[in-house]
Amino acid sequence: MPDEPGFPIGETVSDERSVQKEMVVMAAISLQNIGMIYGNNGSRCIALQNVNLTIHDGEFVSLIGPSGCGKSTIIDILAGLKMPAEGVVLIDESQIGGPGPDRGTVFQDYSLFPWMTSFENICFAIEQTREELEPIEVKDRAMKYLSLIGLERFRDAYPNTLSGGMRQRVSIARMFSMNPVVFLMDEPFGALDSLNRIYMQDVLLRLWLEGNDRKTVVFVTHDIDEALLLSDRIAVMTPSPGQIKEVVDVPFERPRNRKDLAESQEYIALRSRILSVLYSEMIGEIERQEQGVRGLL
Ligand SMILES: Nc1ncnc2c1ncn2[C@@H]1O[C@H](COP(=O)(O)OP(=O)(O)OP(=O)(O)O)[C@@H](O)[C@H]1O
Ligand SMILES: [Mg+2]
Repeated sequence: MPDEPGFPIGETVSDERSVQKEMVVMAAISLQNIGMIYGNNGSRCIALQNVNLTIHDGEFVSLIGPSGCGKSTIIDILAGLKMPAEGVVLIDESQIGGPGPDRGTVFQDYSLFPWMTSFENICFAIEQTREELEPIEVKDRAMKYLSLIGLERFRDAYPNTLSGGMRQRVSIARMFSMNPVVFLMDEPFGALDSLNRIYMQDVLLRLWLEGNDRKTVVFVTHDIDEALLLSDRIAVMTPSPGQIKEVVDVPFERPRNRKDLAESQEYIALRSRILSVLYSEMIGEIERQEQGVRGLL
């Protein structure tokens, strides 16, 4: 839900000048035998082991799994911020060498520059990734996306004066404004109240479908209903070490209606299946933790 009246919900987001300058790019993602190990003061944590996942060009795939199963690690690897200890990550058959303008990321902790206002954070991201745009186009674009997330009034606010949900929305606007071909979104709506969450889900779906090509989306969530509403497929992960246990097809036709979905038997059955996979993993993890605690007593 926007804070501002007169919100441009029906407006198309791309302006003509920008569309003409945007290239049509493919973005299929392939994670092959990915392993990731963190080491801290002599201890080793195997965060990911043998993770294999192919995401097709224009596909919307959600990662769902218990806390600590490595979802953010996968996002960081896809963003080019972390190198896996094993395996390869390809985007359109080229190995990822680092961050790039083809990928936009909404991080779990928002990652806004604290010394920049909302507006400046977005302008900076556009300038870094869309060098072809004139300064006035950068500013227009930043305002367009600030208004899309309903925070025009907060254009000159610094992140420490915004609520968690507002910071999260600025971070989402920043990613949208860069118009990357891949959206990497790590629990992007986790700090939003339910009305804002519904609103942002709709904005995301609209932007995903917008333009000449669909974006490729990797979306982390803890919310099964959100994953079922948004995704083409859902990858369910297991913890310790993080692996992909099952990839579930979401068969519902688009556009999807929340109410119709929630009432359909197929939806209820699929939701229950995913829940039981997740639940069995969590039970296993809780038992492992309890054994560890018993060992300490
Ligand atoms: N920089 C790091 N150093 C050491 N261990 C790390 C580091 N980052 C992550 N880990 C460990 O790797 C594992 C996976 O972490 P990650 O943040 O990817 O999980 P997650 O699935 O995103 O969890 P959540 O749902 O809580 O966000 C966890 O056990 C975590 O403690
Ligand atoms: Mg995480």
